[in-house]
Amino acid sequence: MLTKSGRNPVMRIAILISGRGSNMQSLVYAARKADIDITLIAANTPCAGLDFAEQQALPHCLVNRSEYPDKISHEDALAAEIEKASPDWIFLAGYMAVLSADFIDRFDGRIINIHPSLLPDFKGLNTHQRALDAAHTTHGASIHLVTSELDGGEVIIQAETPIRTYDADELAAHILQIEHLLYPAVLLSLCSGKLTIEDGVISWLDKHYLPSPGDAEISRIICPEG
Ligand code: GRF
Repeated sequence: MLTKSGRNPVMRIAILISGRGSNMQSLVYAARKADIDITLIAANTPCAGLDFAEQQALPHCLVNRSEYPDKISHEDALAAEIEKASPDWIFLAGYMAVLSADFIDRFDGRIINIHPSLLPDFKGLNTHQRALDAAHTTHGASIHLVTSELDGGEVIIQAETPIRTYDADELAAHILQIEHLLYPAVLLSLCSGKLTIEDGVISWLDKHYLPSPGDAEISRIICPEG
């Protein structure tokens, strides 16, 4: 399929969302800088992110969890939509459901997630409050491969920042700024071959697109060697 510019897209991605979709938007804007085709934005519930996709005339669909009797039938319907869109990679961007091992296997491990903590710390929800409650002095965001272990897949990259507040909302807003730098950087690196992921093996060949320490108060970028 050709992009709007008439060129063959280098990469095709689908993005799964459940909410406001700010990380999805950051991926959309990054994709426009490269030959990346967003072939689907799918949500499991009506949400602001889906409204954005509609306004931007991006391919989108709602596979509403509440209209399916169980998780299996919902995931089947979602997988069918994704398969029609035939993305190379699926990016989870605030997709608020745990995907089954069957769903993950169906896409051959080509699913990436962003998580607002320095994994393996604070898997699951309420990461910012939990970081404050645990009196951590640093916090951050992680991007990782999705496996059947919740927030447990191989880490692709992390960004760390000092905690300078006692307010979880303020901390969340700061971490979100970092997420908006990190997720597009991963997308552009993957598309340009500066980052490769083959059979779960992550190799960073060049860190050109990554934010620098200092951007959004990032103190450290952590990525596997490769
Ligand atoms: C982000 O913090 C993301 O890391 C987490 O859920 C939040 C989604 O925010 N998984 P948005 O919908 O991308 O604005």
